[in-house]
Amino acid sequence: MTAGPASPIAGAGDGTVRHFTRDDDLSPAEQAAVLSLAAELKADRFARQPLAGPRTVAVLFDKPSLRTRVSFAVGIAELGGFPLVIDMQGTHAGRGEPVTDIARVLAGQVAAIAWRTFGQAAIEEMAAASSVPVINALTDRFHPCQVLADLQTVRAAYGRLAGLVLTFLGDGSSNMAHSYLLGGATAGLQVRICAPEAYWPAADVLAAAAALAERTGGSVAVSADPLDACKGADVLATDVWTSMGQEGQERTRSGAMAGYQVDAAKLALASPACRVLHCLPAHRGEEIAAEVIDGPASLVFEQAENRLHAQKALLCFLLDAAAGERREGRG
Ligand code: CP
Repeated sequence: MTAGPASPIAGAGDGTVRHFTRDDDLSPAEQAAVLSLAAELKADRFARQPLAGPRTVAVLFDKPSLRTRVSFAVGIAELGGFPLVIDMQGTHAGRGEPVTDIARVLAGQVAAIAWRTFGQAAIEEMAAASSVPVINALTDRFHPCQVLADLQTVRAAYGRLAGLVLTFLGDGSSNMAHSYLLGGATAGLQVRICAPEAYWPAADVLAAAAALAERTGGSVAVSADPLDACKGADVLATDVWTSMGQEGQERTRSGAMAGYQVDAAKLALASPACRVLHCLPAHRGEEIAAEVIDGPASLVFEQAENRLHAQKALLCFLLDAAAGERREGRG
């Protein structure tokens, strides 16, 4: 759980507010509860109204987005609230306004903050200074809201998560690979990250995931052999080879990852019931073959829709926790 240090500044985070800046901010039981609520909210979209009033949630973007922008805006509205979507280029952030000041200004007026930005340190700084929940809507390091939606998607397809084999092919040092490691290990998945050695996951993320997997009965593994990694997999997942902020590296990355495309040959090595994930946007013919992403094994559009349900459930969880803190007199 990301928690800020006790702060002498009135209105700043006091360390008791729950945030979701990385996948392991939810315990295994909490993640399971959020995923169950996500399924309930998919069946009955207006069943929960924790933002009735309407209370406002600020959704901040330092990077482009379609799915995250739409799913947060729609979800906040469906929870009875008002989505205040802000492109940060139009604010003073680029002119040096401190993250801590932004956090305190927003927290004085909104019920929660979601932020898509570059550095993980920035969102953790925001969380430490905020008296309302802060949600990671993607950083260079993690994409935990996406992996919550992916877990919801896989759970619906298989009726369970623990013990399933999920193989991620491509950039193993990416935010998606890191979030599959932490979120997947939390769920008890057997997570295989398969990437060229120069693109393996960060050692600290891998170690945290391995420790989590020990507790949940899952496992984590990293390799460079895509054929071996696909054998018997229940889920094949991938993402773009060049992420936002890595523009200019396309040729090097495409050259290194050419053998890691999710294609029909690799799908044939997986379990016969294997399903395919891609968080989108996709480049058909690069990280995934068109016949796979548009074929019967693909769950990508269900996955995209589940961003809505998973984030609504997460907001309910965090807002419930914040309300509990207020009732206890700590917030
Ligand atoms: N998958 C995802 O985060 O999509 P956007 O970049 O469009 O939000």
